[in-house]
Amino acid sequence: MPDMATSVPEPSKKETYPLKMLPRRGFGQTSRTGLWWVTPVAVFLGLGTFVVYSTWAAFQGQHYRFGSYLSPFYSPELFGDPQFSWFGAKPGFWPSFLPFSPALLILWAPGGFRFTCYYYRGAYYKAFWADPPSCTVGEPRNSYLGENSLPLILQNVHRYFLYLALIFLVLLASDVWKSLWWLDPLTGKTYFRIGLGTLILAMNVCLLSGYALGCHSLRHLIGGGRDTLSSLKGCHKAYDCVSCLNRGHMIWAWCSLFSVGFADFYIRMLASGHWTDWRIF
Ligand code: FES
Repeated sequence: MPDMATSVPEPSKKETYPLKMLPRRGFGQTSRTGLWWVTPVAVFLGLGTFVVYSTWAAFQGQHYRFGSYLSPFYSPELFGDPQFSWFGAKPGFWPSFLPFSPALLILWAPGGFRFTCYYYRGAYYKAFWADPPSCTVGEPRNSYLGENSLPLILQNVHRYFLYLALIFLVLLASDVWKSLWWLDPLTGKTYFRIGLGTLILAMNVCLLSGYALGCHSLRHLIGGGRDTLSSLKGCHKAYDCVSCLNRGHMIWAWCSLFSVGFADFYIRMLASGHWTDWRIF
């Protein structure tokens, strides 16, 4: 009986198959019929609003502290108010042409963490650079360079921003603790107090933790190896926990973006006298 495997005729080496080239689509052209443009437009508006607000707030240099509340945009306050900052008033090295604000010294770290986040990259490449605007939608460029050359190769520093972000989480958690203790100006004594601001700061830390602890880089880091998972039980468990958060990374990203902006806004409203903090305890 002939061997079945060898009885099938081999295609001739000279035989060629015509490659069917799909016509290149013009910018914005697509055969998709759904509302594919809603997501990029929503990302553009949401992220754009946050960038404008946070830049404005960072340059204010005032109304970022109310009692024991400190805006997350200004934490840690390295230089600034001599009474509260780590190293005293405005540093001598600060350029005279640049308005001074404590936020400008630190915001590059959490900002860099978000900017290089894998989720946000995918979102703003589509929403801001239209590269492409959405899947199977024509883009405005003919070439694709990826993240292999400058400037986008710099996105690979995300892991290092992660290390900084984890430190920031600890600092913001300590701000929540400090927001429980208020100074009575009459007696000079410290007393325990929980206000709506405390809850907003605490919620902000929870949402930021859900975002940062579900980071793709952390998952890789904690998983143990380059291409394989660590055989250590603890590493596996940690990997599963990060993976669990990672599944909702987009939701965590948006919720924490909103909460950090709102926490600054709330404290700004209190410090400028527009709102009154609701004392709960
Ligand atoms: Fe989004 Fe790291 S991938 S925070």
